[in-house]
Amino acid sequence: MNVPSQVLNPPCRTLLGAGPSNIHPRVQMAMAAPLVGHLDPYFQTIMDDTMALLRHLFRTENKLTFPISGTGSAGMEASFDNFLEPGDVAVIGVNGVFGERMVDNAQRTGATVVPVAAEWGDIIEPAAVEAALKAHKKVKLLALVHAETSTGILQPLGDMSKLAKEYECLLLVDTVTSLAGHEVAVDDWGIDICYAGTQKCLSCPPGLAPFTANEKALAVSQKRSHKAHSWYLDLSLLSSYWATGRVYHHTAPVTMVYALHEALALIAAEGLEARVKRHLRHGAALQSGLKAMGLVLHAREEYRASSLTSVRIPPGVDGGRVIQRLLKEFNIEISGGLGPLRGKIWRVGLMGHSSTGENVILLLNALEKLLLEEGYVVERGVGVTAAIRSLNA
Ligand SMILES: Cc1ncc(COP(=O)(O)O)c(C=O)c1O
Repeated sequence: MNVPSQVLNPPCRTLLGAGPSNIHPRVQMAMAAPLVGHLDPYFQTIMDDTMALLRHLFRTENKLTFPISGTGSAGMEASFDNFLEPGDVAVIGVNGVFGERMVDNAQRTGATVVPVAAEWGDIIEPAAVEAALKAHKKVKLLALVHAETSTGILQPLGDMSKLAKEYECLLLVDTVTSLAGHEVAVDDWGIDICYAGTQKCLSCPPGLAPFTANEKALAVSQKRSHKAHSWYLDLSLLSSYWATGRVYHHTAPVTMVYALHEALALIAAEGLEARVKRHLRHGAALQSGLKAMGLVLHAREEYRASSLTSVRIPPGVDGGRVIQRLLKEFNIEISGGLGPLRGKIWRVGLMGHSSTGENVILLLNALEKLLLEEGYVVERGVGVTAAIRSLNA
């Protein structure tokens, strides 16, 4: 075998795509800390702290609040696999890739799935959800994506929470792109099951899926007539490692938990409210700058996320080339569109440690240069000026 001669030397990018975001140096350092065993008493104190910090972040008292080993999709799969089984009915909002992924997950459990669709760039209307709940008696689960990363829409949840109560179904919310960047209040909002990912507004590498479920949801899952299909994601087994007995289930990714612990400690130190305000401020500045450059934001105005902004690629501009040049010439990563929006939008993430005023200015400057070279007519400095005005407002 030829031994590769290259030592690992990844570039230091400015990560402004749909995730991962940049990580804080303290999170980086946490991953270099000495490894201990997954049942080591020291690690168990880190597990306890991590669960407490996650409860604080999710704003919940739920006992079963812990990081699932796996990316955000593992959180999604655990949420459907443990709460649905053949014969159940689930209503799922679909206005982007991740709503579609939810449908796919739910269908694999054998449940009947009722998708409630909306345009990709719009919210799911509560009236449409209510119609679906009314039409299908005994719906067990209503599932929604809070921040749809494929479009930049932030779904309001107040009415959905009322509907879930009225129709007596569990409310499941994907907060992969909102948790730690937007307000998420699991208990106050009546969310029964919630999951996220570490690599977005939490600013941790990908690899864990923060998860929480309340007693009502767990009681429902305990009444299932079949075991959860997935052994690895079976909450009754996972909870005996994380929440009750510290009984070995699988070897927890110790280093990733260190990283999450550190990221959560940084979030707690910043304060949830301050952090949400920071995301709002920078998201608004970016969106003002893009609009001042004559670009069209894709998501419906009143419901734009600040963690993820989608912007339409102007006619005549090669969107893929702009993405490549941003990476090559400016070391900046942004993302392209997914599914039907592929080639039509760019997606810019301002998440966690990447959500800074400097990054907004950096990106708008670089984008202006590249757009001018693509033949797009834009007045020099107009985007940055608007962003600075917004930042100073
Ligand atoms: C809203 C949403 N849900 C689920 C996922 C899946 O997470 P992961 O890619 O970490 O598996 C993502 C990933 O981007 C997401 O944005």
